[in-house]
Parts: sequence; C-alpha cells; structure tokens
Amino acid sequence: TRKCVLTGRWRNDLGSNMTIEAVDSKGDFSGSYHTAVADYPSTIKVSPLQGSQHRTDQNRQPTFGFTVNWNFSDSVSVFTGQCFVDEKGREVLKTMWLLRLCVGNITDDWKATRVGTNVFTRLQPQKE
Ligand code: BTN
Repeated sequence: TRKCVLTGRWRNDLGSNMTIEAVDSKGDFSGSYHTAVADYPSTIKVSPLQGSQHRTDQNRQPTFGFTVNWNFSDSVSVFTGQCFVDEKGREVLKTMWLLRLCVGNITDDWKATRVGTNVFTRLQPQKE
C-alpha cells in the first residue's frame, strides 16, 4: 500500500475541518482547525494547531500528535493518531483526543478533562 500523507484538508465524523500544512524534515507541522462543535458554538473561530509526525521508515504508516490551542475558549485539545490507507485506497486518520477545560478551582479538576475518538478523511481525495 501507498504511504499515507498528513498534509492537506481533512474532515472528521463530527463535521470539523482541519488543514495540515507541509511536514518539515524534523516531522514538525502546523495547521488550522475549524471545529463543528463547542461548548459555546456561537463563538467558534478557526484555531491554530501545532504537531509532529514520527519519522517512520518507508513502508510504515505514520503516527502523529498535535495540539489545538482554541482561540475562542480557555480550552486546549491534544490529538494523537495514525494515518492509514484503507482497503479502497482512501486515506484516514484514526485519532484519540483529550480536551482540557479551564476550571476556576482545583476542587473542580476532576471534571476538567474529556476524552474521545475522531476519524478524519481527506476533503479533496488526491489522485495517485
Ligand atoms: C471548546 O469548546 O472549548 C473548544 C472546542 C472543542 C472541540 C472538540 S476537540 C475534540 C472534538 N473533536 C472536534 O472536532 N471537536 C471537538
């Protein structure tokens, strides 16, 4: 199978869109994230992301992680995942995320972290 490439535009199962820019020689990348959902949806704005991709050998599908620093709330999300090419030749990002909310007091720490999964597919599939 062809190797999965992170760079490009992606949409997940919630309808959120993200763009990942070029991955540099160290595996570092930046991008932007437009979430479809939020605690206060009316405030949603496109937010920056910073990530790194593992330097995988030729035949292996890359693992990666990125942080989204939400610029319309006090929260931060981290995603980690792996890029795959499925049996129909479509690239898919299988991820898990943690969302850290800002709470006012240490006694509320217990309720400040959410966890979930997201599956991303490429917005404009690229020809071989
Ligand atoms: C906030 O509501 O404070 C920030 C928005 C959080 C959006 C979350 S991050 C994990 C999940 N996947 C998405 O695409 N959006 C939600």
